[in-house]
Amino acid sequence: MSLFISFEGIDGCGKSTQMIMLKNKLEALGYKVLTTREPGGTPVGEKIRYILLDKENAGMEALTEAYLYAASRALTVRQVIEPGLAGYDFVLADRYVDSSLAYQGQARGLGIDTVYNINAPAIGGLFPDITFLLDAPASKLACRSEAAPDRIEGEGRAFQERAREGYSILARRYTGRYVILDALKGKQRLNEEIVHEVLKRMR
Ligand code: TYD
Repeated sequence: MSLFISFEGIDGCGKSTQMIMLKNKLEALGYKVLTTREPGGTPVGEKIRYILLDKENAGMEALTEAYLYAASRALTVRQVIEPGLAGYDFVLADRYVDSSLAYQGQARGLGIDTVYNINAPAIGGLFPDITFLLDAPASKLACRSEAAPDRIEGEGRAFQERAREGYSILARRYTGRYVILDALKGKQRLNEEIVHEVLKRMR
């Protein structure tokens, strides 16, 4: 049995660090672990990521943005996640479909259901077994990217706050797979809680 785990949260919440810490721990326990990131994770996906995050593309339509994230995701699902679930004990995703629902659906205002419908063919019904949401107010997250924000990070705090609202809606909608964590806790504490939760689900 393999587990598919996603890490979600607004920019600067520490999800990438927590994903790597979990990977290291699981590998130390002898498990085979595959990690992937969205947008990206495949050569074509990395090119789509570049278009999405390039500040020169400031005039991009919200719908275009949503389709581009879904386009990258369709590839990641087929070329990375599905094969990964067949060959590894764990597939860890640094963002997945919930990022689109929170950012394009809620923060951009396209609507969570509209963005879900755009993504449905891309994910083909594949949802994570566990989604760790690292939650904190945007104002409290010391943003490493504030010095050189990419196109999405450059949208500012109010945008991030709307994405956070989106995540809170999703956590209520998908109670079975969501685990909400306080992103302001120390890295080690968070890692312990995440490892505990994952090992609990393995039993
Ligand atoms: P991420 O890779 O988490 O950024 P970084 O590694 O720079 O912290 O995500 C890049 C940006 O893309 C981030 O601002 C969130 C945004 N995003 C969406 O708006 N929708 C999506 O579906 C995804 C996957 C990311």
